[in-house]
Amino acid sequence: MTEALITPQPINISFLETLKFIKQSYNYPLEHSQHLRERFGNVVMQRAGRVNIVHLFGADAAQLCLMNPDQTFSNKKAWDMIIGRIFPNGLMLRDGVDHRYHRRLMQVGFKSKAMQGYLRQMTPQVERTLATWCDSQRTELAAYPAFKQMTLDLAATIFLGMDLGPGANKLNKAFEATVAASMPRIPLAIPGTILYRGIQARKFMCRYFLDQVANKRASKDQDLFALLCRAEDEDGNRYTDQEIVDHMIFLMMAAHDTTTSTLTSMVYLLAKHPHWQDRLRAEVHSLGTEPLTHESLAKMSQTDWVIKETLRLYPPLSTLPKFSNRSFEHNGYLIPSDTLVITYPIHTHYMEEYWDNPTMFDPERFSSGRSEHKRHNYSWVPFSGGAHMCIGLHFADMQIKLVIAELLRNFRISVPADYVMPVQQSPISKPKDKLPIVLERC
Ligand code: HEM
Repeated sequence: MTEALITPQPINISFLETLKFIKQSYNYPLEHSQHLRERFGNVVMQRAGRVNIVHLFGADAAQLCLMNPDQTFSNKKAWDMIIGRIFPNGLMLRDGVDHRYHRRLMQVGFKSKAMQGYLRQMTPQVERTLATWCDSQRTELAAYPAFKQMTLDLAATIFLGMDLGPGANKLNKAFEATVAASMPRIPLAIPGTILYRGIQARKFMCRYFLDQVANKRASKDQDLFALLCRAEDEDGNRYTDQEIVDHMIFLMMAAHDTTTSTLTSMVYLLAKHPHWQDRLRAEVHSLGTEPLTHESLAKMSQTDWVIKETLRLYPPLSTLPKFSNRSFEHNGYLIPSDTLVITYPIHTHYMEEYWDNPTMFDPERFSSGRSEHKRHNYSWVPFSGGAHMCIGLHFADMQIKLVIAELLRNFRISVPADYVMPVQQSPISKPKDKLPIVLERC
């Protein structure tokens, strides 16, 4: 006999509690989600104004939402509500057939040949940047802004094919204004507000990209922008000019803060765990002194574990929103159509059901002997999964390995023994204090 499905009832909390609830979910998604699950279970329904929200916990929920059977969920409707004003029509804000078409064309920018070109171009730039960080034996550095500037500059050259200088700086400034405006606390677009500045900055970026599309199409340039301008499928379909602009602006955003966040968290963990720093340094030295290639990056298996462990403990995106196109079943509940459905990578990453001592930094859990991440296919989801799984994950992996390898070749990284990084988990994880570190030449 099949059990009757229950429609989850919105949790009964006061208006003041609802306000606190929204603040907590934004500021402390891990603590908030753990508290919610403890108090109410794996399926928690809530009403915020006219919007139905359901919070789903556990790897089975992640599997359902990311596999998205029969297009039960819309990415577009969820992300449009959150960042659609500033980043409309980005790949993540598309659904179904339309999404598949746009993603297939975009793959050209992430194929092996393109990636090898990016790596060759990035290597000397990373070396030059690190040399400017420390021109003496020892230096103190705010890691977060340093990585932020580095990844911005890398994006200007690798993604856009620009020389660094005033032009790149102007574009980077505009880009930062768009990111700041993507989830504004005051959603008012009047002169002086962050949202207004973001909209103006987006207009500037649109003009910048539009002006160059024709030249890039005719060029033989190998930057991501040029590759997208010339991308063509087997039926001869190409992106329109405006589609290229929308994709480029979204791609810069998707790549930038996420990679900065991961590099910063990883450097923190290496500073806190010097024996792991030594292990990774030895691994890098074992590759020789030649510039890193795809083959050498593939040999950095311990670095790989540390990256995975960093993303488990500090996933840049702690929550993933979807929007239900129709009602669906989960855990014995019937969840209605038109509901904002939130799953929590950060919560799943700390669940004792899937991880031994989940709060502990233990990169070997990802070694082939232990493979804790294989206990459930959706227990480790920093890059999401299914049709919308991050298209840039190999690019991110390559960039992170390159930067960390060059850093460890040259420096010892430390923080005071009693230092604990204060983390702001949303919208993209980052340290509240910029992460002050010490670099010493080795
Ligand atoms: C450590 C770094 C990164 C993390 C943790 C990360 C995480 C994610 C996540 C969680 C999603 C999926 C959101 C969803 O399901 O709606 C996503 C999508 C996406 N990411 Fe990344 N990302 C990273 C780096 C990058 C980079 C470097 C690029 C580009 C070069 C990039 C481009 C994209 C794009 C275009 C999408 C949309 C994919 C689609 O909808 O088909 N990401 N990323």
